[in-house]
Amino acid sequence: MNTKRVVIEDVKHPRDEELLEAAEILRAGGLVAFPTETVYGLGANALNEEAAKKIYAAKGRPSDNPLIAHISGENELRPLVSEIPEAGRKLMEAFWPGPLTIIFPKSEAVPYGTTGGLDTVAVRMPSDPVANRLIALAGVPVAAPSANTSGRPSPTTADHVWEDMNGKIEMILDGGPVGIGVESTIVDVTGEVPMLLRPGAITMEMLEELLGRVEMDPAITGPMSPDMHPKAPGMKYRHYAPKADMTLVEGETGAMAREICRLAGESLAAGKRTGIVCTEETKHLYPEELQREARFFSMGERSREETIAHNLYAVLREFDEVDVEQIFCEAFPDTELGQAIMNRLIKAAGHKIVKV
Ligand code: TXA
Ligand code: MG
Repeated sequence: MNTKRVVIEDVKHPRDEELLEAAEILRAGGLVAFPTETVYGLGANALNEEAAKKIYAAKGRPSDNPLIAHISGENELRPLVSEIPEAGRKLMEAFWPGPLTIIFPKSEAVPYGTTGGLDTVAVRMPSDPVANRLIALAGVPVAAPSANTSGRPSPTTADHVWEDMNGKIEMILDGGPVGIGVESTIVDVTGEVPMLLRPGAITMEMLEELLGRVEMDPAITGPMSPDMHPKAPGMKYRHYAPKADMTLVEGETGAMAREICRLAGESLAAGKRTGIVCTEETKHLYPEELQREARFFSMGERSREETIAHNLYAVLREFDEVDVEQIFCEAFPDTELGQAIMNRLIKAAGHKIVKV
């Protein structure tokens, strides 16, 4: 298949002419990748089971992993759900449109092919102008997982999507780099107490302030044991992962950097291509010689964690480009946006964490 790439001129104000062909492809059951404020999505008509199947094929994704239905306005929610619980209503009012996905009991209109066989449906209303207008023009809810090959880091630029999806989908809408860089927060409101299933830019602290008590799916941070069934099925796979073996090092910044220097030194001495991930605040703690010998990246500023989230997946993909075999990465505090960052890093590292 020939994948067409359409560059959006002004991403804040996309013109309908730039989006109409993509909307038509979606309506006709084809696949279009598009930018959102979190990561790029791989879209298909959520009400068309055959279209959903194409998503699983293009991503190489296990078919028990359900898809998020994206809508452009609140009146598009009602047909997809059998009930809107009070907590769901509050969340919509506070955070839609935006980087929040809400799990509702599904209506009969939503096929099991979209929900991975579940009786619930995940819904999100993106704020990104390209995503929002595309969905409105398509006139159907748009199922969209992240537009990466299953298991790889999520795409935050159109080039990342191109790497994974060229030849497999009809079109890529190029809206430049995304803003946030990690996937939406997921909250399940179908139980007694709302439950956080995936941390994101809408933080646990923000959810608790709005809703009071919020539970957290243990799969978010803990290692997965075989008898654990995360409520978001996607959370059980090794995810967001670079090809290299990755170790996270956790502790006070000085001790953390010293331990990474030691481990990276050993790895280099063993003849392995070695990568180091540090931050602006800590990079001076690494000797210049080590910075030259290893693939050395600063992921952003600890004092502005949104910069870390923004660069996270691009840095992991960068390591794939240069065929690094072993990565050592600094850890972050597990609060606010740090919770989403740590959740992705822990999964990328396959739970290999060294505490110093
Ligand atoms: O930011 C995002 O949410 C991006 C952009 C494109 O919107 N999308 C995204 O989709 O991250 P995906 O498919 O990569 O991740 C969706 C997650 C998976 O972990 C999946 O298991 C979970 O949502 N999920 C979907 N439907 C669910 C449901 N009914 N119950 C529980 N978890 C669900
Ligand atoms: Mg994904």
